[in-house]
Amino acid sequence: MSKLVHAQWSSKMTFVLAAAGSAVGLGNIWRFSYMVGDNGGAAFVLVYLACVAVVGLPVLVAEWLIGRRGQKNPINAMAELAGKNAQPKAWALVGASGVLAAFLILSFYSVIGGWSLSYTLGSATGTFTGQDADGVGAIFEGLLGSPGLLLLWHTAFMALVVWIVARGVTKGLEGAVRTMMPTLVVLMVVLVGYGMTTGHFGEALAFMFRPDWGALSGDVVLAAMGQAFFTLSLGMGIMMAYGSYLGEDVNLLGTARTVIILDTGIALLAGLAIFPIVFANGLSAGEGPGLIFVTLPLAFGNMTGGMLLGLMFFLLLTFAALTSAISLLEPVVEFVEERTPLTRVMATLVSAVAVWLLGIAALMSFNVWPEPVMFGLNVFDLLDTFTSKILLPLTGLGAIVFVAWCLDRRSVAAELNLTGGSEQVWLVVARYVAPLGVILVFVNSLLG
Ligand code: PHE
Repeated sequence: MSKLVHAQWSSKMTFVLAAAGSAVGLGNIWRFSYMVGDNGGAAFVLVYLACVAVVGLPVLVAEWLIGRRGQKNPINAMAELAGKNAQPKAWALVGASGVLAAFLILSFYSVIGGWSLSYTLGSATGTFTGQDADGVGAIFEGLLGSPGLLLLWHTAFMALVVWIVARGVTKGLEGAVRTMMPTLVVLMVVLVGYGMTTGHFGEALAFMFRPDWGALSGDVVLAAMGQAFFTLSLGMGIMMAYGSYLGEDVNLLGTARTVIILDTGIALLAGLAIFPIVFANGLSAGEGPGLIFVTLPLAFGNMTGGMLLGLMFFLLLTFAALTSAISLLEPVVEFVEERTPLTRVMATLVSAVAVWLLGIAALMSFNVWPEPVMFGLNVFDLLDTFTSKILLPLTGLGAIVFVAWCLDRRSVAAELNLTGGSEQVWLVVARYVAPLGVILVFVNSLLG
């Protein structure tokens, strides 16, 4: 059934939209901004940009290429391509760790998606109008402090995801992505414009782009690499699955560039919108996961037309989160459907319930269960950290090493339209720079 759904992607444009719909999500606005704040600003941003260009781009291309050649779900595609190229079947593990990552990520992603839903309603009812920093902070803490409210919104978000998946992913969503993505960009630009009026725009620019290299550490680099994978939906087999419905005529490198520019552009805009508000109101950039929820309502609550803008913003954010969440649920459902006798619908329900249950443990981290469970991290932080710092990079590493080293070099170059000099650049980056980058970051973090 998923094959049918994806097979409806009629044009190249549709594929780009689907890939962009998965990539652009909470990661660009919520996660990017709080990661920048937590990791010292510009040093993190610059390392993140480098990771996107040098590691993210080749891994994205590698995942699509594997999917397009394998014409199957990630696990089977890896197994089959490995077999065809005289490699051990154990390569299928790369697909499997991706599925595990998708499952774990969706559980906490849904909790944040729930916050976004709740803020959509809050904006519609004027909750933030005229609030000061303390008021906005209190509203956010009220939400976090209430396991019942968090559960309600987390449940509502997961229910929406299941509903959309059950109806067929492309129906309606396709057209919606087409109009909502540009609207989101316009809104972000408006917010950046507002940031310029706060008198703290320069400070924000410096925070984001003038690096204090003293702030750089192995941990910051690892976080930047993790963010690059998270925001591009890499290391989860999602892009592999999308690639498997891709026509031969699509130019992988060119398409990857488009998706990456869009994704990175939205993240940078989000930062430029958020940090002026942070500095203008004496808030802390290192606020953590609550950052956008205590800064943006402040701006919306105090500008003309803010109620409407705020409503639109959180609605679009929720929508962006939904398109990403759908892409996260897909590999899990596919896996359950294949390995059990369950039907597609039952597999969707069972997967969603399992994700939902784990999400409950995650949301309790903010109130009744803040205690660390492992490595000094509570459940929420553990899920986020373990996936973005370990699972995603490892899966991505597997994909790029497989494509660069195990597939026939010439056929890969031909598939990517590379000749002469550009082939040499690809070879150096895909064989050495990208894998070594990921490995170095790991070793560094293990030692540190
Ligand atoms: N890329 C999405 C985001 O930035 C999140 C995501 C991660 C979606 C992994 C799918 C897979 O929000």
